[in-house]
Amino acid sequence: MTPSDVKATLSFSDGSPSMDLPLYKGTVGPDVIDIRKLYGQTGKFTYDPGFLSTASCNSTITYIDGDKGELLYRGYPIEQLAVNCDYLETCYLLLYGELPTPTQKADFEDRVTNHTMVNEQMQFFLRGFRRDAHPMAVLTGLVGAMSAFYHDSTDINNPEHREIAAIRLIAKMPTLVAMAYKYTVGQPYIYPKNDLSYSGNFLRMMFATPCEEYKVNPVIERALDRIFILHADHEQNASTSTVRLCGSSGTNPFAAIAAGVACLWGPSHGGANEACLNMLGDIQKMGGVAKVGEFMNQVKDKSSGVKLMGFGHRVYKNYDPRAKLMRETCHEVLNELGLQNDPLFKLAMELEKIALEDEYFVARKLYPNVDFYSGIVQRAIGIPVPLFTAIFALARTVGWIAQLNEMIGDPEYKIGRPRQLFVGAAARDVKPLSQR
Ligand code: SDX
Repeated sequence: MTPSDVKATLSFSDGSPSMDLPLYKGTVGPDVIDIRKLYGQTGKFTYDPGFLSTASCNSTITYIDGDKGELLYRGYPIEQLAVNCDYLETCYLLLYGELPTPTQKADFEDRVTNHTMVNEQMQFFLRGFRRDAHPMAVLTGLVGAMSAFYHDSTDINNPEHREIAAIRLIAKMPTLVAMAYKYTVGQPYIYPKNDLSYSGNFLRMMFATPCEEYKVNPVIERALDRIFILHADHEQNASTSTVRLCGSSGTNPFAAIAAGVACLWGPSHGGANEACLNMLGDIQKMGGVAKVGEFMNQVKDKSSGVKLMGFGHRVYKNYDPRAKLMRETCHEVLNELGLQNDPLFKLAMELEKIALEDEYFVARKLYPNVDFYSGIVQRAIGIPVPLFTAIFALARTVGWIAQLNEMIGDPEYKIGRPRQLFVGAAARDVKPLSQR
């Protein structure tokens, strides 16, 4: 990061000593005011619940321009990556900073492919869950449990441990997600096959049975691979910040990623795709497109607590570029499957049209985000709604790992330990029970 010529001066109206704060410039995007010495020199903290104005780190991985609706992975626009690359190439880019050469790509694919099996003991964890357990509850447990199997790669400060843990996590997430699904439907687990692509392997582990050969549909395979690319990383979102904060204690990579899985589950974050599809289903039950106006009135009535799931974003104040690409993927998949008239897709497009013309949404710069169309395309593929966020976690694992490794590799990193504005009771004495 580059020191700026501009300084910020903090002064106080009560005549307390003022303070100069250095500014730093990034490659692109807002400058930052370095407040690391603020408390030491003024005895005061900054206050920013939800971190609306706080940069928690400096990073080289992903950049979002919320006003332009731009998303770059290591400088490459998501639109170009989604068309010209596959998910494992994108993983390589996020982990190592450059797109792979053909040789590097083949080697990386080979390493990932040869780590897709999980220890046979993992299946016994699943038996402890109810068959109707939410897949994210299962996945949180399974990912955390990985740290019990790979004692040879739990030292996060060892670059070789970080490398093999990254490969194992990227390779095994599809296997674990598919196992979580098979467990809920009472079907036998399907082992990975090394002659399939990353996405093809996942489709087969999800939908094959031992009774017959499973044929991967190349259109679905490509669509799923693109869904993985679109979800791979996204700057310092809630789950990535969770992984960084968790990893900053020096805990092992599997535990840190399990924390990310748990955070992503929330309906304001990765759980929004499941919530969005349930919302579309509810509107459909109310009467479909004819009832959209009534539903929108509920959304605009704050007391209803109803939100338009799949809309709005902390950073994007323009169209989420991933939502555009997801809508195109939706078209491709629905056409391939002969579901062009899917009522939920038609309802979603009508909802988007109305929202984008409605003053309430325009004034608040609320646009569709990545979760708005992703549920429709996953449902069309046959992925059950409760599994949507697990698919998001599968795809985001590489982003979490890349961000975690970037932090650990930064010589300046410290354990994250925010402070607070205390508004509770000042010191007071305990009264004996007889006097309370
Ligand atoms: C993801 O951070 C990331 O990068 C996340 C993510 C990633 O890839 O990691 O992009 C993935 O999490 C996408 C977001 C998925 N969540 C949803 O779709 C759930 C619905 N969206 C909202 O909950 C909300 O938009 C958030 C949580 C996404 C963002 O919330 P903010 O930034 O805190 O915005 P806000 O709540 O301050 O909203 C500003 C205004 C408020 O109204 P006013 O108080 O100004 O009158 O917009 C309103 C909000 O009430 N608003 C909505 C709305 N989202 C915001 N009103 C109705 N429906 C919505 N969806």
